[in-house]
Amino acid sequence: MHDDGFLNLLDHDSFSNGVPHATFARLRKEDPVSWNDGDEKTKGFWSLTRHADIALANKENRIFSSAQGIRLEDQNREEYLARRTFQETDQPEHSGVRRTVNPNFAKPTVAKFETLIRELASDICEKALSNSEFDAVDAIAKQLPMMMLGRILGVPDEDLNWLVEKGDALIGNSDPDFTDHVVDKMDTSAYRMMPFRSPAGVELYDYAEDLLHNRRKVAEEGILAKMMSDEHGLKELDFKNFFCLLVAAGNDTTRYSIGMALNLLAHNTDLITQLKSGDYWGTCADEFVRLASPTMHFRRTATEDFDLHGKTIREGDKVLLWFVSGSRDEEIFDQPNECLPGRSPNRHLAFGQGGIHVCLGMHLAKLEVRIVLEELIKRIDTFEAIEAPTWTRSNFICGVKKLQVRATRVG
Ligand code: HEM
Repeated sequence: MHDDGFLNLLDHDSFSNGVPHATFARLRKEDPVSWNDGDEKTKGFWSLTRHADIALANKENRIFSSAQGIRLEDQNREEYLARRTFQETDQPEHSGVRRTVNPNFAKPTVAKFETLIRELASDICEKALSNSEFDAVDAIAKQLPMMMLGRILGVPDEDLNWLVEKGDALIGNSDPDFTDHVVDKMDTSAYRMMPFRSPAGVELYDYAEDLLHNRRKVAEEGILAKMMSDEHGLKELDFKNFFCLLVAAGNDTTRYSIGMALNLLAHNTDLITQLKSGDYWGTCADEFVRLASPTMHFRRTATEDFDLHGKTIREGDKVLLWFVSGSRDEEIFDQPNECLPGRSPNRHLAFGQGGIHVCLGMHLAKLEVRIVLEELIKRIDTFEAIEAPTWTRSNFICGVKKLQVRATRVG
C-alpha cells in the first residue's frame, strides 16, 4: 500500500510494504495524540507517536497501565487472566517476577555468552557464504536468535525449528505466511484463551506442560529449569504463558533487527566499508535496532483521565505507544531515517526504554546483532540485494521476511 501519510494504523495491510514512516512523520507533526475509531472487531484507540510523549507514558505507568492487555486486541477479564504474563501486569506484581528473571538476562551474565555466540555466528556465516546467492533472512538473521533461544531456554536443538515456527505463528498472527489463522481475516474466537489468539498457542502450551511434568528434558543451566525449581516458582498457567512469551519475544525481534542490518548492508556499500573500519562495533547494534524497531508498539490502558496536547485521554481508553515512531522523532535524532553506525548518544525506544517493562533480553539481543555482523563483515567483499525484500504484514511486528542477496567472500 502506498504511504501517502494518511494510512490507517489499524490496517495490517498499511504495513505490508514496510513501516509507513510518512504516516508516522505526519502524526508526530500534526496529530501527536491521534484517535483511531477502530472497527467492529477492535475498539477505538489513541496513538502516541512523539518520543517525549511515549517516554512520559512509559514513566507514568500508574496511569498508563499494562494490566488490561498490551496488544491492540480487546480482551475481556477472563481472556486477560488466562493469557497474561508479567509483561501484562503493573507494579508491585510486575517487580516480583521481574526480580526473579532479571539476573538471567543482566549484562554481565549475558556477556558470558560471547564466545558461544561467536562460534555459532561464525558457523552460520560460513554456511551461508558457501553459496554465492541466498536468502539472508533464512540463512543468517533467523539462525542465531533461534540457536540462542535454545540455549537460554535449555531445550534441545532438534526442537528449535518447530518452536520458531510456532513463535512466528504467534507473533505473526496477521500474516498468512506465518499462520493459517490470520487474525483479522477469520473468526479466531475458538483460541481467545490462548496466547495471541492462535492455535500455535495450544501446541506451545502442550510443549510447556511436557516440560513441567518431566515428559521432555530441559537443560539445568537454562532459564526454564531455574523457573521450575525456584521455590517461588510460577504456577502452571503462568509458566506456560512465560514460556510462550520467551519463545515469541526472544526470536523474531532479534531476527528482524539483524534482518534490518543485512538489508541496509545489501543496499549500501559505504556501510560495509564503515563497518570494516572496526570503529563502530560499540555503537552500531543500537542503530540497527533503532531503525528496525521490530515491536512497533505496545499498548497501555488509561486508569484515569489524562490531558495531552489539547486532547483528553479518558479512563479506560487504549493507548498505543509507537516505539517505532519515537525512535525516528526528528526532535531527538539528526537524520532520523539515515543509518549512522556511530550514532551516540542513541536514545531510541525500540526496547521500551524508560519504562518498568524495558526489554528483558536487550543485552542479549544487542550482543547477537553485533557479533553476527562482525563475523559476516570480516568474511565479505560484496553483499548486494538481488530482489526487493518482503515485509511482515502486521501493525505489531515489523521485519524483513525474505532478502535474496549475492555475496562474494574476501580474498
Ligand atoms: C532486538 C530485539 C528485541 C526488541 C526490539 C525487543 C523489544 C521489546 C520491547 C519494546 C519491550 C517492552 C514492552 C512494553 O513496554 O510493554 C520488551 C519487553 C520484553 N522483552 Fe524484548 N525485545 C527484543 C529481544 C528480546 C529477547 C532476546 C528476549 C528474551 C530472550 C526478550 C524478552 C522480553 C521480555 C520478557 C519482555 C517483558 C519485560 C517486562 O514486562 O518486564 N526480548 N521487548
